[in-house]
Amino acid sequence: MAFLDRHKVIETHATLLLVLSFLVVTIGGLVQIVPLFYLQNTIESVEGMRPYTPLELAGRDIYIREGCYVCHSQMIRPMRDEVERYGHYSLAAESQYDHPFQWGSKRTGPDLARVGNRYSDDWHVAHLTNPQSVVPESVMPKYGYLATRHVDGKYIADIMATHRMVGVPYTDDMIANARADFAAQADPDGDTSGVTDRYGEKVNLRNFDLAPGVTEMDALIAYLQVLGTLVDFSTYTPVASR
Ligand code: HEC
Repeated sequence: MAFLDRHKVIETHATLLLVLSFLVVTIGGLVQIVPLFYLQNTIESVEGMRPYTPLELAGRDIYIREGCYVCHSQMIRPMRDEVERYGHYSLAAESQYDHPFQWGSKRTGPDLARVGNRYSDDWHVAHLTNPQSVVPESVMPKYGYLATRHVDGKYIADIMATHRMVGVPYTDDMIANARADFAAQADPDGDTSGVTDRYGEKVNLRNFDLAPGVTEMDALIAYLQVLGTLVDFSTYTPVASR
């Protein structure tokens, strides 16, 4: 009882309680925050990560505009059930060029962090146009109108310049050629060498929705198909086990 009696002194003196709470929170905060200033980098850099191509970046903006994140997360937690269903748990580096990040807090549909290359482009067109045609019990809305809305990348260089301001390493060359790269990625018959020079050989170059011209559907599918595919997990080893 002696202990409780002494604690009563604190509980019945508002100012004392306030001062002591402040002390406890301050120490707790310092313990969490101070070490971060002594790390070289809080994000472990990982081979394979690159900024989004202009077309993928436009697709990402459509993803955000349509509120896909309301039903889909993009973060695989390191728990066994998640790793078995979705693949290797997400690394911080995999969202380092995402502003804002799309981790999400709710999964009405599955996590999409590694959906890239899991389905064909045709499947995505069919699914986005009418999800119930491929998954009858799906509650996902239809997004068929994306296929009829053409995009010309008019503002994509400005968007990339804005992303550069917050730390995405877009080069002057990438920004100067943004609009050309935007169109070239979805046009396999055109000259795509600029896109591969700037973003690497592994970039998906094709007409994603098979319809003429660049549509919002192309951009969104280009984005979906790159998700989780940049880091090669057959060769990746975490720093801790190197
Ligand atoms: C109302 C919630 C909801 C919204 C909004 C939504 N989805 Fe879905 N999504 C689902 C559900 C439920 C499923 C699982 C059934 C299915 O495959 O349709 C799903 C499945 C998917 C899949 C297949 C994932 C897999 O691993 O099988 C993709 C890709 C996808 N959605 C993309 C999108 C995109 C892109 C948008 C925005 C344009 C979007 N979703 C918006 C609910 C939603």
